[in-house]
Amino acid sequence: MKDLITKIKESAEFIKSKAGVNPKIGLILGSGLGVLADEIEDAVKIKYEEIPNFPVSTVEGHAGQLVIGKLQGKDVVAMQGRFHFYEGYTMEAATFPVRVMKALGVETIVVTNAAGGSNKTYVPGDLMIINDHINLGGNNPLMGPNNKELGVRFPDMSTAYTPELISLAKDVAKELNIEVKEGVYTYFTGPTYETPAEIRMVQTMGGDAVGMSTVPEVIVARHSSLKVLGISCITNMAAGILDQPLNHEEVIETTQRVKAQFISLVKNILHKM
Ligand code: HPA
Repeated sequence: MKDLITKIKESAEFIKSKAGVNPKIGLILGSGLGVLADEIEDAVKIKYEEIPNFPVSTVEGHAGQLVIGKLQGKDVVAMQGRFHFYEGYTMEAATFPVRVMKALGVETIVVTNAAGGSNKTYVPGDLMIINDHINLGGNNPLMGPNNKELGVRFPDMSTAYTPELISLAKDVAKELNIEVKEGVYTYFTGPTYETPAEIRMVQTMGGDAVGMSTVPEVIVARHSSLKVLGISCITNMAAGILDQPLNHEEVIETTQRVKAQFISLVKNILHKM
């Protein structure tokens, strides 16, 4: 079996051979938020299944391709659709694209997701700048032997979400008159939504939003010394807060409703990066 470094290099070489630019910024676009990639100019699109060693996406609402080109004058590589642990991928596979981005020369990643609001002051449609996370996945993508070429054994997570990027995002939101929240993202593996008791636990712990992605990718990004900006779209109130069941349709409907704001926020942040 090929080792991880060989696989990363093969994937990166393949992508470089197709793309015209050397992206410094990577975008990971969550459920319903992939529309941002449609704004990329001079776009080269590469389906995940074409890329050697890439896993293949299965979830509805995830197109499953890399889009490489210019956004706000910046060279970017965007993932339209991501790989979730709950789909059955290993943690290594789910976070593999982050390693490939690093190999492409990416220095900063912008990670986005749809999330449930556990903070009762939030409302569906809010955008939340992630300032920290809680990993309740019971798993970590760095478990197993550490490869020093990729990063240190015990990565520091005290500033997992780059403070300068948090400030920048808040400044840009203010300029655009977009009200943003700032808070802690709590990761569960899914695919079930949380129970009301789990959400009460999250609230006690200081978690403001809950979701099924992002944290594995951010852990690998930090292992790879990438800077990270995380943005959640609060698509629904978390389980038990309202007297109504949760469903994926509501998640997609809310992302549709706020996509213009979301696109405007991310584009203006990129412009100033
Ligand atoms: N929980 C977990 N993941 C989610 C939610 C939620 O309430 N909403 C969107 N993704």
